Amino acid sequence: MPRFISTTPDSRLLPFPWSTPLADWPINLLVALPRGLSRHVVRFIQVGDSVYAAKEVVEHLANHEYRLLTDLHRLGTPSVEPIGIITERMDHDCNPLDPILLTRHLEFALPYRSLFSPGVRQETVSRLIDAMVVLIARLHLIGFKWGDISLSNILFRRDAGAFAAYLVDAETGEMHDRLTDGQRLQDMEIARTNLFGDFLDLQAAGRLQAPFDPLALVSMVMTRYAELWQELTGAEEFSVSEMDRIEGRVRRLNALGFDVAEMDIQTDDGSSKIRIQPKVVDAGHHQRRLMRLTGLDTEENQARRLLNDLDTYRFRSGQTKADEAVVAHRWLTEQFEPVMQQVPAALRAKREPAQLFHELLDYRWYKSQREHRDVPLVEAAKGYVRDVLQGLPDEAMNKDALIPADGSPQLVNPFDPSQGYVEEGDDEPLPPDPWESAADAAPEPSPFLDIAALRAKAASS
Ligand SMILES: Nc1ncnc2c1ncn2[C@@H]1O[C@H](COP(=O)(O)OP(=O)(O)O)[C@@H](O)[C@H]1O
Ligand SMILES: [Mg+2]
Repeated sequence: MPRFISTTPDSRLLPFPWSTPLADWPINLLVALPRGLSRHVVRFIQVGDSVYAAKEVVEHLANHEYRLLTDLHRLGTPSVEPIGIITERMDHDCNPLDPILLTRHLEFALPYRSLFSPGVRQETVSRLIDAMVVLIARLHLIGFKWGDISLSNILFRRDAGAFAAYLVDAETGEMHDRLTDGQRLQDMEIARTNLFGDFLDLQAAGRLQAPFDPLALVSMVMTRYAELWQELTGAEEFSVSEMDRIEGRVRRLNALGFDVAEMDIQTDDGSSKIRIQPKVVDAGHHQRRLMRLTGLDTEENQARRLLNDLDTYRFRSGQTKADEAVVAHRWLTEQFEPVMQQVPAALRAKREPAQLFHELLDYRWYKSQREHRDVPLVEAAKGYVRDVLQGLPDEAMNKDALIPADGSPQLVNPFDPSQGYVEEGDDEPLPPDPWESAADAAPEPSPFLDIAALRAKAASS
């Protein structure tokens, strides 16, 4: 009898064929969703309304990964959510089988192979790298040494015009009180080797063409990480007449999405110098604010965009003096929800609500520009659903978009649904994403991780 270890026991797991090696599970139990490269056998299974990722892995690693994912989850770090471990498995001849670690499938996650396609835009790659660097820095801030940073161990989700990165594989991780510089750099050396290999693979598969170059991409990751880490933790020294630099630093950190728990300020007796060093906690500054005001759980840049819209709404509707929480509630019921009601259930799987709202705001902006009028939100929502949403590929991978793995022709390999849809293959180009093409025409948005620009802005204001 297998043993289930989980904080939330789930009887729906009982009927699965735990005495069969995961690689031999019948196709009708599996769900075809794209996934990255892996050492272990990984399959997606549907359990009630949810989809879980199942990974067959030796016992001590399963326990270790489960514990680490639980810690990361508790600390609010973007990582997949652990569900449980199934141990003490035996096959029909009473041979022991490795345990299975279950995690919740991350909805709307994009495997990196579908983000890198021939002709991928420089902007897109740059933003993927930013997302990756922010994730690594967040993990390092809480004392997590990953030990295996690679593209396959990261999942990406759309986050307004950028991406948000999630940790998917914690098997090699170590949790410390805090990391020494040596530990961080060691982690980055592993990243350098792995990522170089990942980029070379993409290049060999024709998904990464000039001007992209694996070496240059890897050094971009390294440089941006070093810059971000310096900004997050570095000490700054200036004269007492420049006290506003303290506030400037806090503002820059907030703009990057991080909060400052404490600012260590030292002055030397008799000297006119001040030295500051921030203690930064976790990213998600805007995310937390939006969550507090509206209850919406979004990514960081989506939150920024929605908060901007909330501010615009507040101003336009003449509620600048009203309580913020009250306005937020009105915005939710008068702006956000009516838009969501315009989206037919069948199309909901294509985009997360916050991402959809962000894209709709872009759509409305273009339409208003073209037609020289203020297009009402609900009218824009109808147009967006008709002109954009309907034509988008189902990247959603949430439960509404699931196709049972019945060997239908869209699968890359009908006998291994875990290889995902043909969409991952090379001959079938993805339908054009109007949002991506529209972004080409749009004025260049300021890069999220452009620390130099943030410094310049703080200096000039
Ligand atoms: N919870 C999950 N949600 C979405 N995708 C997942 C999840 N768990 C695993 N995957 C996919 O499966 C792949 C392999 O999982 P991983 O834990 O990295 O296995 P391995 O330890 O063998 O490298 C990942 O690259 C990812 O694409
Ligand atoms: Mg992995």
